[in-house]
Amino acid sequence: MNILKVLVVDDEPGIRTGVTRVLRNFTVGFPFMDDDFSFETVETGSGEEAIEILDKEPIDIVLLDNKLPGIYGIEVLEYIRQQEYDTQVMMITSYASLDLAVKATNNGAYNFVPKPFTPQELKAAMESITKHLYLKRMTKKLNEQGKHVRFQFLSVLSHELKSPINAIEGYLKIMQDKQAGDAIDDYQVMVSRSLERIKGMRGLIMDLLDLTRIESGKKKRNIAPVDITETARMAMHSMEPLAIQKSVKIHFISDEPHYINSDPAEIEIIFNNLLSNAVKYNVENGEVFLSITDNPMEVVIDVKDTGIGISEEEIGNLFKEFARIRNSKTKDITGSGLGLSIVKKLIDLNHGSIAVSSKPEQGSHFRVTFPKH
Ligand SMILES: Nc1ncnc2c1ncn2[C@@H]1O[C@H](COP(=O)(O)OP(=O)(O)OP(=O)(O)O)[C@@H](O)[C@H]1O
Ligand SMILES: [Mg+2]
Repeated sequence: MNILKVLVVDDEPGIRTGVTRVLRNFTVGFPFMDDDFSFETVETGSGEEAIEILDKEPIDIVLLDNKLPGIYGIEVLEYIRQQEYDTQVMMITSYASLDLAVKATNNGAYNFVPKPFTPQELKAAMESITKHLYLKRMTKKLNEQGKHVRFQFLSVLSHELKSPINAIEGYLKIMQDKQAGDAIDDYQVMVSRSLERIKGMRGLIMDLLDLTRIESGKKKRNIAPVDITETARMAMHSMEPLAIQKSVKIHFISDEPHYINSDPAEIEIIFNNLLSNAVKYNVENGEVFLSITDNPMEVVIDVKDTGIGISEEEIGNLFKEFARIRNSKTKDITGSGLGLSIVKKLIDLNHGSIAVSSKPEQGSHFRVTFPKH
């Protein structure tokens, strides 16, 4: 239960105690909120004291009469706005002139409740102001988180791009000064390393595009029955050049079509990433086993490899963005650490699940399950 602090500012004691009594056992809940709200009141008869209270403790909602013995309610409202307190104000007045209404609204008052009001009217007004407060705070929080995530994302991204750019720049300078000799052949290694780094950067950029499209919900999905077996076969073929280069053999085990409703492009990205990992993080003459099976409820994809494996504690981080395992075995393998985070997002989008089991030096097993319906 969330408790909201309500400050009741009115010079009539009857109104103050009335409000406290009505709110004591009143709660507000909405289908989109996990928790209900209840209210705790603080009472005062003057604007001056209201300001003192507001300065001392966080107040969520102020029920504010305008005509008070000292400073008027509208001045308290102006004060709240100037201080930028995270407080919602509801004016409770017996006669509200148009002038006052305009002034109060301009100063951010949420609404007016004319006095006298019935308990029902007060409750309805409280319900609406609570919803407004909740949504406002929620939006603020989400915006802040968004900014934070974006910042983190950009700093990691620029870091990841900096080192290949530095490397390529270094090689080009060496060539410009002809430091390694006059013949073009003297620079073969540098040229291929530069090309390798460029490939890495391109991969990173493509991954980022996939990721932002998925995250922003901007990716248009073309849902249709997809034969996973066919998609897997295609992904396997496109992985073959890399596998040959690494002397890794891919075995494909599936006899028949297996259909799910999805976007074929999404399934292809999933296979490409799992297979490229199984090949990349494999050993010389290693093997990859790709199989697709089903049971009455689901289609099951298994990607097993005989590669370098992953330790228990590292498995927990695998699906986070930019998570790469850095050790002597992976130091020469290029990658952005985004592949599996994309895989996870796409599997979630398709209501599937992914499980990993792995042993260092022995190999890894990724299992993806999609519901049939
Ligand atoms: N089959 C595997 N065997 C061993 N380690 C793996 C395997 N798959 C992933 N990993 C480890 O998990 C890390 C994260 O994988 P992920 O696919 O997200 O990124 P990446 O391969 O580094 O980069 P990208 O896929 O974006 O090119 C890898 O860097 C690697 O250390
Ligand atoms: Mg990868």
